[in-house]
Amino acid sequence: MSRGRQRRRTVWTCQACGLESPGYFGRCPSCGAWGSMVEKTVESSVGMAPEIGGGTRPLRLSQVRSAEGRRLTVGLPEFDRVLGGGLVPGSLVLLGGDPGIGKSTLLLQAALRVAEYGQEVLYVAAEESPEQMKLRADRLGSASDGVVVLPETALDRVLEVAEELRPAMLVVDSIQTVYLTGLESSPGSVSQLRDCTAQLLRFAKQTATPIFVVGHVTKEGLIAGPRVVEHMVDVVLYLEGERFYQHRILRAVKNRFGSTNEIGVFEMTDSGLRDVGNPSELFLAERVRDAPGSAVVVALEGTRPILIEVQALTSSAGYGTPRRVATGFDATRLQLLVAVLTKHAGLRLADQDVFVNVTGGIRLVEPAADLGVALAIASSASGIPLDPTAVYIGELGLAGEVRGVHALERRLQEAARLGFERAVVPASSRVASVSAELRLLPIRSLAEAVSALAAQAVRSRQNGRELSPG
Ligand code: TYD
Ligand code: MG
Repeated sequence: MSRGRQRRRTVWTCQACGLESPGYFGRCPSCGAWGSMVEKTVESSVGMAPEIGGGTRPLRLSQVRSAEGRRLTVGLPEFDRVLGGGLVPGSLVLLGGDPGIGKSTLLLQAALRVAEYGQEVLYVAAEESPEQMKLRADRLGSASDGVVVLPETALDRVLEVAEELRPAMLVVDSIQTVYLTGLESSPGSVSQLRDCTAQLLRFAKQTATPIFVVGHVTKEGLIAGPRVVEHMVDVVLYLEGERFYQHRILRAVKNRFGSTNEIGVFEMTDSGLRDVGNPSELFLAERVRDAPGSAVVVALEGTRPILIEVQALTSSAGYGTPRRVATGFDATRLQLLVAVLTKHAGLRLADQDVFVNVTGGIRLVEPAADLGVALAIASSASGIPLDPTAVYIGELGLAGEVRGVHALERRLQEAARLGFERAVVPASSRVASVSAELRLLPIRSLAEAVSALAAQAVRSRQNGRELSPG
């Protein structure tokens, strides 16, 4: 049973992977193929989903058409990547994040891109005036006709307008400021949040319209946070980053249509968010080479390896229990690494505060970063810088052994690509070097790595010159 009107539109389809986009790309944002997009005109009824209630009939799974090939790209490659290769029709996507982090900016940019391809986007500005929206659009250097702004907080009205307009994409900014008139409770309360989301979900599924809803992360208080609706939506994205650093990380914490490991990296500029195609370069840009306490590790974020600098600082503790403080790294894991360093590498950290900082606002959750973190601590404690041309890859076991990690080859390729000359890797993983310029240094244990560090210091002292790598 199909609701809605027939509509003719032009789409570009990637011949390699089937991605459908309203605009042309020289390189397919989904599969990366060059020159694979071909143009065609399609006739589609806007509402393709079966009507809820009454008319629904059971379907054989084999008869259900796959939505995969019909993703809508939002025009920012990093954004599309996190979505799993574009927006799936009829999906409800929650974009959460701290106030002021750039959620409205990101969605307006996406809206403007989609509009550039000749599609209409309905942007519900429930928090800001159209003038404020216009100011932002001016900053983004575009004020397309295709973006329709609706300054409205009553969701009933929003749905009416959306039903009439049938946009290619709907943005509700934010879910905490819209309300259903039939409910007693105030906007932002848990019941409003849930019911508004349910209404939007129904609209998305019935009309196959992709919808973004913005949710502010709030401190515990009167207004409920986006978490209370996470289970209802198809995709949950969080935009993160330090407010005062220019880059932002878009992370999927739930995705019914893609991986939750992918991250997108953006840089906030004067004219909106800019895609950072090469995050490693950004994260290493401010690295202080030849300083004790710094190590470069290779983290795997989704399918993409990213090089990140880990910094450690040890300093004499005052009285009481010495502190172990980690930013961007698990605090319990840090305590464990300190214990392993003490027990198996002979480091004296009992009277030392230990601070670890993962630069660039990244959170390292992979054990593959253990070796780098532990060596950064050893380096700070001994005052000997680590080799600045090396990356450190390996998980640490409780016996001080360096254990293998997955996808080692991909990590090494990224290190080689960025010009690193050495990679300290677990001896257990038998991997041939990925490039002639990148030498592999296999090690068995943390103790071995720490004594190599000390030997390096002795060598350079004997040479009576500045520390040099190796
Ligand atoms: P905003 O998208 O309003 O955040 P949110 O919707 O998450 O609350 O972004 C607000 C910040 O971004 C604000 O401090 C100004 C800054 N900004 C830029 O630096 N450059 C720009 O081009 C734009 C539009 C905003
Ligand atoms: Mg906003």
